Amino acid sequence: MKRDLNAILREMTLEEKAGMCSGKDFWHLKGIERLGIPQVMVSDGPHGLRKQSDKADHLGVNESIPAVCFPTACATACSFDRELLQKLGETLGKECQAEDVSVILGPAVNIKRSPLCGRNFEYFSEDPYLASEMAAAHIKGVQSQNVGTSLKHFAANNQEYRRMSCSSEIDERTLREIYLAAFETAVKEGKPKTVMCSYNRVNGEFASENHKLLTKILREEWGFDGYVMSDWGAVNDRVKGLEAGMDLEMPGNEGRGDSKIIEAVKSGKLKEEVLDIAVERILNVIFQYVDNRVPGEFDLEEHHEIAEKIAEESIVLLKNENILPLNISEQKIAFIGEFAEKPRFQGGGSSHINAYKVESALDAVKGNENVVYAKGYSLKEDIVHEELVKEAVQIASDSDVAVIFAGLPDSFESEGYDRSHMKLPQSQNALIEEILKVQPNVVVVLHNGSPVEIPWADKVKGILELYLCGQTSGRAAVNILSGKVNPSGKLAETFPIKLSDNPSYLNFQGDGQKVHYAEGIYVGYRYYDKKDMEVRYPFGHGLSYTTFEYTDIHLSKNKITDTETVSVEVTIKNTGKMKGKEIVQLYISDKTGAVGKPEKELKNFVKVELIPGEQKTVVMELNRRSFAYYEPAVSDWFVNSGTYEIIVAASSRDIRLTQTLEVVSEDRLPMEIHWNTTISELLQNERTRPVIMNLVENEVKKVREQTQEGSVAAEAITAEMSLKMFENSPLRSYRNFNNMTENQLEELMRVLKNALNN
Ligand code: BGC
Repeated sequence: MKRDLNAILREMTLEEKAGMCSGKDFWHLKGIERLGIPQVMVSDGPHGLRKQSDKADHLGVNESIPAVCFPTACATACSFDRELLQKLGETLGKECQAEDVSVILGPAVNIKRSPLCGRNFEYFSEDPYLASEMAAAHIKGVQSQNVGTSLKHFAANNQEYRRMSCSSEIDERTLREIYLAAFETAVKEGKPKTVMCSYNRVNGEFASENHKLLTKILREEWGFDGYVMSDWGAVNDRVKGLEAGMDLEMPGNEGRGDSKIIEAVKSGKLKEEVLDIAVERILNVIFQYVDNRVPGEFDLEEHHEIAEKIAEESIVLLKNENILPLNISEQKIAFIGEFAEKPRFQGGGSSHINAYKVESALDAVKGNENVVYAKGYSLKEDIVHEELVKEAVQIASDSDVAVIFAGLPDSFESEGYDRSHMKLPQSQNALIEEILKVQPNVVVVLHNGSPVEIPWADKVKGILELYLCGQTSGRAAVNILSGKVNPSGKLAETFPIKLSDNPSYLNFQGDGQKVHYAEGIYVGYRYYDKKDMEVRYPFGHGLSYTTFEYTDIHLSKNKITDTETVSVEVTIKNTGKMKGKEIVQLYISDKTGAVGKPEKELKNFVKVELIPGEQKTVVMELNRRSFAYYEPAVSDWFVNSGTYEIIVAASSRDIRLTQTLEVVSEDRLPMEIHWNTTISELLQNERTRPVIMNLVENEVKKVREQTQEGSVAAEAITAEMSLKMFENSPLRSYRNFNNMTENQLEELMRVLKNALNN
């Protein structure tokens, strides 16, 4: 049904229109009965439905309806599986339809700049391509059920410290290539019905009143056509926000924002058309939902099983020295650590789900007499309890294998504040060391929303990273430990050895007013690779119980123009003994040398399932954007001509196959010719090169003559040295060193300008 929104708008009073631009309460938009505008609800997300009925809050304090807690984004990103994320979205969408929720708030796509950000567990990755692909799939899934999403938190909200006031200071290239890129594909491909602006400022301007972000980039460049809502309480200046493109203020605040809008329209400060546009956008999304309602029911148990499948696809096997899988019907196994009994499977704050049931690792092995349990540490306080350690050491030494369930307690990471260090509780590190003294076969199962320092990594034989893996995380972990399921997740972020290795270390959190993103585009593996640093576990790393062989890389073309696409084919074979899935990663390394770039950047990936002995050829596509960087001089994406290395890898540090590709680009940098233009700039530009080449050749001749072997000049400076210096000189230096008159120089510049314009 097509609604005539203009007709509805014409019927609305100024007060009613202003009223549509803020919530009725914490979770509802306003309805207007006389005009047939229904009241709709929005709820958190992103990894489950947090529908609150009575007492509402945005910090996860008050109860919400019992629901399924799916694995959080830090885990699901490790699946590198677009279809899986779509399935998660569809499942959430069905729950929303059943509960009459018009928009589920998420996914959250902010880049993990530092492992310390308290909310990293809700975010996907340190890599914008991966984050955006995961988010787009999540959005498509939810919206396939005619329920809206709210892509959040737009933008550059990468820390919790002073999140409501601090300004993220970011240069344009970094903003576009890293922080906005995470949103870009999600908007263009996923087409979310709404976007949630963040609390913070970006380069001084609040995100909630940032015209450049909310209108110029989001709508005009990316084509977003839904409504923008504020994060809860993110509005600073309501009228300025509306003008910038921030349509809906949340939560409702008894009309305070509305009256500011009314006043501004009445006084002529705000054009009524601006208000009309915002109202139309909001009505459009409301009616798309109500006119396509598919009320239904959903089965909690069925969704619990889906959550379990998602968890199994997401868990990452970090280390395995011939210890996993365990034979749980034969081996005597000690499960140690309170997390075995009470897993940490989600984070604190607005995304907190009232999980209707939780399956711990102990639940999953119930009835198996081979498995014994000791608590080992207490989650209540971070002190070493001698009695608990003693008991754990005892069962460890009486067993064939000790599996220690470790990780960060709730208080260590949450929305609203950042971590102050990257360490596990000292009681857990101490416990692991004690167990290692009596038992060489140790596996550690980690529960954390973001990387931790792993000081005992070389001493244990196995490490399984669960992240915060939803209410079924215990069963999923046991299925992997026992080999019922072959692990297939790979890390969506780097695990540095220690916090100070992280590129944002010196600037993270800032001074309270501003935080400088001084590391620029070198975030995560982009930095560690460029610096050739050792890391604990690299981006893209994850083991399997089987092995995969990569052969036959083939490019559909060896040379392309910047507007053409190229397909990369590669054959993957399961060379081990177990059915498994491999995540094949495609990176590009820019060899043109024209601009500073990371060693390599992820540009595509695919996950493929193979039975033993089976091989499949996978195909991944690259397009103009894969080769481009953001060039502030042209305010656009820019491709340099030259050679690019195409890298097919099993992780960012496990390169399997490479091939080179020539790209011929039509892109040209604007060039101005003035006295301070350097000779090397003129040599780089193909139009000015022939003109300046003459001069260079003369110079070369002159230098050669002066530096003939044995001459005094040759002892002081070689011809090559002199030439390099010459290249760095500006045109004006011709007056001083080459006896060119100013008139001759003006003439030379005229000829160069002509060449440039022809
Ligand atoms: C969070 C959002 C959340 C909102 C509503 C805010 O504090 O930043 O992510 O959707 O509350 O609960």
